[in-house]
Amino acid sequence: MTTINTLTLTRPDDWHLHLRDGEALKAVLPDSARQFARAMIMPNLRPPVVNTAMAMAYRQRILAALPSDLKFEPLMTLYLTDNTSAAEIKQAVASGVVHGVKVYPAGATTNSDSGVTDLAHCKLALAEMEKLGLPLLVHAEVTDAQVDVFDRERVFIERHMLPLLKDYPALKLVFEHITTKDAADFVQQSPSNVAATITAHHLLMNRNAMFVGGIQPHHYCLPILKREEHRLALLRAATSGQAKFFLGTDSAPHAKHTKEAACGCAGMYTAYSAMELYAEAFDAVNALDKLEGFASFYGADFYGLPRNTDRIQLRRESWNVPTHLPFDEGSLIPLRAGQAVAWKMQRL
Ligand code: DOR
Ligand code: ZN
Repeated sequence: MTTINTLTLTRPDDWHLHLRDGEALKAVLPDSARQFARAMIMPNLRPPVVNTAMAMAYRQRILAALPSDLKFEPLMTLYLTDNTSAAEIKQAVASGVVHGVKVYPAGATTNSDSGVTDLAHCKLALAEMEKLGLPLLVHAEVTDAQVDVFDRERVFIERHMLPLLKDYPALKLVFEHITTKDAADFVQQSPSNVAATITAHHLLMNRNAMFVGGIQPHHYCLPILKREEHRLALLRAATSGQAKFFLGTDSAPHAKHTKEAACGCAGMYTAYSAMELYAEAFDAVNALDKLEGFASFYGADFYGLPRNTDRIQLRRESWNVPTHLPFDEGSLIPLRAGQAVAWKMQRL
């Protein structure tokens, strides 16, 4: 087999990204905008982005924070609550700037305390989304304290995904950041209105990475890293060439001191070298030919948006990720800090 050393791709998009706000937004936005043409912006701010007016204002703050030499389009999402009305959904679609609605089960993760306590409270909003074709983006983990943290995604499928698809069979649904073979199988077996995003970190690491040589807070995220058999299933899904699996980094910055703490925050910062990390993962299974579909085509197709036309290049070239990056308060530790990545991206 010939070794591929350079790869030219249609410019990719990130279908799941946390950009934060204020100074933190200013610090991280250039990293994503250098790599991606567009990103689906998660709404878990404090307070959360629960309506179209807030989404439009947040979009303006993102555009204002964008350095003038970078082109980047933020695709906005709303944060579903027990009170989201059908009228709010209509307005979101009419705005043209909201492209999805995110459901966080209350208490599942960072800033999810105003999340949905029971999907039964969201019937009118969900029916309207199904009717208007506005996708539901699902953080698919049960919050039941009785359920083992490594099983929360699998149990969510039985308890919530299956009933959701039965009640709203035409709803466009993205199973966000899948982490298990169970989720990959579920998405694969579902009709074409069901898709999934996959992060670079879940393709590259299994749960051992949280404990090598001592506890590794920068490898803690939600959903938590799983066993090797699950990582391998995700790699198979991502490199399968099936259009229902596409790129979503879930890059989620937290200041160093809030992760290296007695109760550390969940989230990995991968935006700095996202495409390089995905290239490593695909290269490891000789599937670089499948990267463009996953990173640049299938997400846009699912969301009914045009594919990008500009291009990027990835070169096989080892370089070291910085040990830390400037951030709002203190610093930000990117994934692979101070260590080598085997690919280097450049814009064409
Ligand atoms: O690890 C995570 N971090 N998972 C999430 O679902 C949220 C995210 C964040 O916003 O920090
Ligand atoms: Zn996320």
